[in-house]
Amino acid sequence: MWASPSAHEYGNLSVTVQNTIRKNTKDRVRGSVNIRLSLAKRKDAPAIAHMARTLVEYGLPWSWNERRIAFCLANPECVVITAQDRRRLAGFAIMEFLDDRAHLSLLAVQPGYQRMGVGRAMLEWLYSSARTAGTFLVHLEVRAGNAQARAFYRHLGFHEAGARRGYYDGREDAVRMACDLGVNAASPAL
Ligand SMILES: CC(C)(COP(=O)(O)OP(=O)(O)OC[C@H]1O[C@@H](n2cnc3c(N)ncnc32)[C@H](O)[C@@H]1OP(=O)(O)O)[C@@H](O)C(=O)NCCC(=O)NCCS
Repeated sequence: MWASPSAHEYGNLSVTVQNTIRKNTKDRVRGSVNIRLSLAKRKDAPAIAHMARTLVEYGLPWSWNERRIAFCLANPECVVITAQDRRRLAGFAIMEFLDDRAHLSLLAVQPGYQRMGVGRAMLEWLYSSARTAGTFLVHLEVRAGNAQARAFYRHLGFHEAGARRGYYDGREDAVRMACDLGVNAASPAL
């Protein structure tokens, strides 16, 4: 069973994503925003849970509450990362490493930071982490009605791999998506 490296094992994990982030202006002029990717800490759990509630689970029962996020943070098979703009939480992602694949549980970017490359930066970091761990298959489920997220994941190398009826509390279907990091290793999007 794979265990994610601890912050200590990662050493200097934090990276500053700069110049690759497009400023989200009306005419989408190129600019830069300093976004720092880091392993999440326990103190980040309330803000992550709030984002999960408002951006991912809206209209559904709240399953990704603070307690569940804290459980992931303590689970050596989960990686929880944050994208921070100074002290502001711009985004986060949670990936669970299973025996032969990884499951991307959640990923979200605050509305004011969307379409700047923050989601891509987090996903690329997770891809890199998975490859390092020798895990080349990543799965996820996304709400069938979330066309934006489906487009985002397709852009980042995922393909749609079937439907899961009533996956969300029996109320809404999910689309299962999969990404083969081995196959996509040479893709320009990655
Ligand atoms: C989906 C989401 C994570 C994308 O994050 P993001 O940081 O805005 O995405 P990026 O800027 O890295 O986009 C990378 C590429 O994905 C595609 N993409 C991203 N958002 C898109 C959208 N709303 N519509 C169509 N394509 C989109 C584009 O091809 C984009 O490249 P481009 O901007 O050069 O055209 C973000 O919109 C979000 O948090 N949504 C709410 C929560 C959610 O749905 N999470 C996913 C389910 S857990």
